[in-house]
Amino acid sequence: MRLENKNALITGSGNGIGRAIAELFAKEGANVVVADLEKESGLETVANIRKSGGNAKFIQVDTSDIDSVDKLVKDSINQFGDINILVNNAAAFVFGKIEDVTKSDWEKVLGVNVIGYANCVKQSLESLKKGKDSSIINIASVSSFIAQPEFVPYNTSKGAVIQLSKCLAMDLANYKIRVNSICPGSIRTRATDKHIESLGLDPEKAYKDFGNDSLLKRIGNPKEIAYGALFLASNEASYITGTELVIDGGATID
Ligand SMILES: NC(=O)c1ccc[n+]([C@@H]2O[C@H](COP(=O)([O-])OP(=O)(O)OC[C@H]3O[C@@H](n4cnc5c(N)ncnc54)[C@H](O)[C@@H]3O)[C@@H](O)[C@H]2O)c1
Repeated sequence: MRLENKNALITGSGNGIGRAIAELFAKEGANVVVADLEKESGLETVANIRKSGGNAKFIQVDTSDIDSVDKLVKDSINQFGDINILVNNAAAFVFGKIEDVTKSDWEKVLGVNVIGYANCVKQSLESLKKGKDSSIINIASVSSFIAQPEFVPYNTSKGAVIQLSKCLAMDLANYKIRVNSICPGSIRTRATDKHIESLGLDPEKAYKDFGNDSLLKRIGNPKEIAYGALFLASNEASYITGTELVIDGGATID
């Protein structure tokens, strides 16, 4: 198993990509803290993991609230010991044109997607420092580096995630903490379903169209992101820090 004796804290792991990462990491031997705003979804992830013989615990958190994150980290350490792997994945999906975005929309999207990631790193740092090969994985997006119509707040936040990762990689290298980003393309999750619904599109047609944007002519599934996260978290990636792993079926090659 590739993550034996590792403790992993994964935010937003009640659904979608976070859940797939939590389930794969547990299968590979990690003790997993499933951290999510939604209790029901988080408990479902934990139940899935336990059913497959893995070890997991749900802790409710709002990553945009530093006190809530502080409690999450303390409870995680009490449960499993020091954190070796942090996956920042929880996100707010706020889209729109600049004219439509309110101050509270900006506060939400930056609060979860940028400050939320920073909160989790800051509060777990002392714990991560104790390991010899700790790893932080920030889930960014292809939206971190491409422009999309009426995606202003979300893409701005995801652009910031890349710089957050690079600056952290530089500052934390002395502690042997590796920091990398993953940039998924279109992945079928609840968030994507909701986005398609909000645009009033036919889901099957929209997924086909999104898929056709990639070289592989299909959208991705959460497990395909989880395998990238597993690689970056494992010792196989011991010389990789400060970089981005794009997993998008070749959609952004040109
Ligand atoms: N789905 C895609 O196509 C896609 C593409 C590129 C990047 N991403 C990124 O992947 C990550 C996961 O996205 P997903 O599609 O699986 O989304 P999702 O909506 O299926 O899951 C997100 C989870 O985050 C939790 N969450 C939201 N705000 C939170 C908060 N403040 N505190 C704690 N938990 C919170 C939600 O409850 C939910 O369980 C996000 O960072 C997203 O930006 C997704």
